[in-house]
Amino acid sequence: MGSGAPDQESALEAGPRGPSSLAIAVAGAAEEGVESGKTDSAEDTRRARDPELFLVAEAYSDVVAVVMGTYDGRRGWILRLAVHPAHRRQGIAGWLVHELENRFRSLGCPRVNLLVMPDNLAGLRFWQALGYLPLPDVLCSKPLQQATT
Ligand SMILES: CC(C)(COP(=O)(O)OP(=O)(O)OC[C@H]1O[C@@H](n2cnc3c(N)ncnc32)[C@H](O)[C@@H]1OP(=O)(O)O)[C@@H](O)C(=O)NCCC(=O)NCCS
Repeated sequence: MGSGAPDQESALEAGPRGPSSLAIAVAGAAEEGVESGKTDSAEDTRRARDPELFLVAEAYSDVVAVVMGTYDGRRGWILRLAVHPAHRRQGIAGWLVHELENRFRSLGCPRVNLLVMPDNLAGLRFWQALGYLPLPDVLCSKPLQQATT
């Protein structure tokens, strides 16, 4: 358990645990700000690559929050942070992100980035409260067609 845990019943675990549907269920319950479902297999891949950067918070044995990180050797990326709506504003997300930052630090990661949808005002306020400030960079994206065999 990390220091500053929100309550005695919360527990923090890292790495592959249970089916990916566990994490997706929480992300789905979060409703806004996080897409759920269609990227399950991509997340399985990510978890296999950076298992120590996949964190789950539990209360009374129920998953209440998840966050995933990746480190590309230059920047850390925070992905798919979600807290179940019934457990918000209790410091859980701040606690998870703090723990993830410590893990990035121990990997030698000098800076962490993340993406927030511009209409996700709660998300933007949360990240700003933790010191994550918007940059002028423009996100560019291109869908790749998969090669057929
Ligand atoms: C954003 C989210 C992860 C915050 O989780 P949380 O556990 O409620 O956040 P915390 O309790 O740790 O909040 C820490 C601080 O962030 C700010 N904050 C959090 N939620 C906020 C909100 N809805 N409105 C304004 N400020 C907010 C506050 O400063 C808060 O401190 P305070 O409660 O003492 O005022 C959660 O609302 C969520 O899962 N949202 C849907 C998914 C999402 O948007 N994820 C982020 C995608 S980039």
